[in-house]
Amino acid sequence: MSKIQAAITAVNGYVPDYILTNKELETMVDTNDEWIVSRTGISERRILKDPNKATSDLAVPAVKGLLEKRGISAEEIELIIFCTSTPDMLFPATANILADKIGAKNAWGYDLQAACSGFLFGLTTAAQFIESGKHKKVLVVGGDKMSSVVNYKDRNTCILFGDGCGCVLLEPNTEGYGLQDSILRTDGSGGQYLNIKGGGSLHPASHETVDAGLHYAYQEGRTVFKFAVTNMADVAAEVMERNNLKAEDVAWLVPHQANKRIIDATAERAGLPEEKVMVNIQKYGNTTSATIPMCLWEWESKLKKGDNLILAAFGGGFTWGSVYLKWAY
Ligand code: UT7
Repeated sequence: MSKIQAAITAVNGYVPDYILTNKELETMVDTNDEWIVSRTGISERRILKDPNKATSDLAVPAVKGLLEKRGISAEEIELIIFCTSTPDMLFPATANILADKIGAKNAWGYDLQAACSGFLFGLTTAAQFIESGKHKKVLVVGGDKMSSVVNYKDRNTCILFGDGCGCVLLEPNTEGYGLQDSILRTDGSGGQYLNIKGGGSLHPASHETVDAGLHYAYQEGRTVFKFAVTNMADVAAEVMERNNLKAEDVAWLVPHQANKRIIDATAERAGLPEEKVMVNIQKYGNTTSATIPMCLWEWESKLKKGDNLILAAFGGGFTWGSVYLKWAY
């Protein structure tokens, strides 16, 4: 029997309607459109304004649309891996909440937290369940309501992030399509440069933690930039090299959307021209776990069966990695 590989057989996404522009940010903090665009490439981002809605509410329309596209019911899903850094609550897992909201009655699931690399960690984890023969329909969701952890008085971070969700369905493939290889890495010594300190067991929520703003995302931008630019480029090049892929063999680079300058450096290192690089950071900013599946969603109609895709990410943890997959439809 031929080897079972995990192939993406459907992709979808969802972004909330509200558009937070650089112009509006100019009225909130001491910043300007020119600075934001030249340093990050971001012009606007989407925000889930309804205070009663959470990350799972970004996922519900994304997943419902995906099921419709693939023509299957929620009951057919066997496993949900929800990659997020902004779960609805500490527990139960957002995967559970989502399963209930969409009626995935036969699924088990869990949340996976690897910050901006979450989707790649989730995809690689999900693939094991397909490759082993354990499951035939696994849903991988990358979703974050970053506006729930952003301090809109901190110009260092509030200009960067947006809300959104992307999701893919993984199914077995025995014709050589799907996930081919992945390299994933973590380095906990980088945790100090990008984190949310409050609300966990180290600093449980209290008046003091809230007063100190520990519930907000904190980032030492310049340090994270240095690590991101090197590691994301290196790991993408490494996955290409060990699979004997030259730039001309790669149809698309699908990079995490944190900063246009990091994306450009990764593309340059891989020798890929800009027309082979998925970039939508200008519209959505950094949606953390959602950036890569949201790119796949936006570019779906341009993808061809057999296309070689290199996915690459870097994020809090530090976490980073790259995935090589052959598009299956
Ligand atoms: O997705 C997870 C991984 N995260 C990343 O990959 C993000 C990595 N980091 C970055 O993308 C960049 O470091 C930032 C976009 C966050 C910042 O860009 P930078 O070129 O590294 O700027 P900087 O932090 O070195 O700041 C340069 C100057 C500073 O002023 P001084 O000290 O030179 O006077 C900042 O205070 O720009 C100032 N600044 C701003 N000015 C206008 C910082 N934020 C802003 C702002 N508007 N929003």
